[in-house]
Amino acid sequence: TMKEADYRPLYHFTPSLHWMNDPNGLVYYKGTYHLFYQYNPNASVWGTMNWGHATSTDLFNWKDQPVALAPDNSGTIFSGSAVADAANTAGFKTGTEDPLIAVYTLNGSQQQQSIAYSNDGGTSWTKYANNPVLPNAGVPDFRDPKVFWYAAGQKWIMILAVGNKVQIYSSVNLKSWSLLSEFGANLGAHGGVWECPDLFQLPVDGTATTKWVMLVSVNPGGPNGGSATQYFTGNFDGTTFTSDSNTVNWMDYGTDNYATVTYNNIPAADGRRLAIGWMSNWNYAQQVPTTTWRSTMTVPRALSLVSTTAGAVLRSQPVLELSNYKNSTPDTTAQGANTAIKMLNSKLIGSGSYEIDFTADLNSTNTLTLSIGNIVEKIALTYNKASGLLSVDRSKSGHIDFNTQFQQQITCPYIPKTGLPTDFQVLVDKTSIEIFVDHGEKVITTIYFPNYQYTDLKLQGDGNASVISNFKVKGINKSLR
Ligand code: FRU
Repeated sequence: TMKEADYRPLYHFTPSLHWMNDPNGLVYYKGTYHLFYQYNPNASVWGTMNWGHATSTDLFNWKDQPVALAPDNSGTIFSGSAVADAANTAGFKTGTEDPLIAVYTLNGSQQQQSIAYSNDGGTSWTKYANNPVLPNAGVPDFRDPKVFWYAAGQKWIMILAVGNKVQIYSSVNLKSWSLLSEFGANLGAHGGVWECPDLFQLPVDGTATTKWVMLVSVNPGGPNGGSATQYFTGNFDGTTFTSDSNTVNWMDYGTDNYATVTYNNIPAADGRRLAIGWMSNWNYAQQVPTTTWRSTMTVPRALSLVSTTAGAVLRSQPVLELSNYKNSTPDTTAQGANTAIKMLNSKLIGSGSYEIDFTADLNSTNTLTLSIGNIVEKIALTYNKASGLLSVDRSKSGHIDFNTQFQQQITCPYIPKTGLPTDFQVLVDKTSIEIFVDHGEKVITTIYFPNYQYTDLKLQGDGNASVISNFKVKGINKSLR
């Protein structure tokens, strides 16, 4: 049977001890990716929130750092972002490093926006003496500031979650903010309160044409219950964001990708828009069957926009740094091909950490099922042409009874492209499966907790034709290749 240690992922970030939720302050500075996160250092449930801190040079090998921001008499530290203030607009610079400035929600008698700065590249942090920088006149949900430098207007922009909408503010010094506009009260998904917004520009189809993308997490009201992250594509003119359409778009149909936000200060020569989400769901996050620590971050993902007949679509794909930890040669023990492939009692599947890649001609089969499990348990991804759905069933995945909502089917609308095979990239890491369909146009991220080690993989279509091609499974290890 599985022990708690067997539940800890190998290549996903987890706190060594105790509770974690949202990623915070994602900023890159001089070769280091900083990952701050909502952290309760006292227990494995949500509570007195701090900003925990970890650093990495490759987004996979994370080093724990001391807590960066801890509560004081004025309140606890809720979610927010961080910027590198290269031009010293806030005047905090004392040495040779660009000041890094964290913008966070101080959760006290009210939620107000505050700042803290670091003059040593993110190692030590000092709260600004005149906090808050954006006070609150009694609005109950007023939080999760994402700040970025808006070069076209030579100003800082802050996007803030305010109840059922976002507000957009600007500042020239990060200390004094003015309201520019509001967005979203009548657009998008509103099953719950809006949280953790983000706003950034992306090329369309890799060209010089760009669009702006807004991410907004909502809890509850996700497509499969509980918390989830939606996105809007549109335009931002330095004051107002205008959405392309009023359809609801989900970044991820899985139950376990929330509070997704992106990195600031990625060098132009890199140019990627990198996102990390919290791989859990407020429906059951505090009850999942680990006790010494709780929660995991998603694999870091690069975001891009592709145009389709239905408008611009946001793709999320695992960052390529993952290949540094992935076996270069695939496993060779799979039996079968075309419509049915099996790996039974597989050492690689038993390791719990691997990537499955294949393409499937879903136009020539009524169903396709990928399952991993053992004799009595499994988690299964099924495509069903009649229902037009991809679904994930974790009702027999193992430990499921800690919360009734955990057992529900997870579905994602999917219609295969005419004449084109569907591309699947599936990342498995002990207790998580991240399914990227058509290069991340559809994503399903979910967690599960086996009672017994999973050792079997089965991939099964039902047509006579050759449904499955290019099937490969590669181990992912912690050591660098
Ligand atoms: C989202 C969230 C944020 C808040 C933080 C508190 O998961 O509710 O809105 O800042 O968690 O931990």
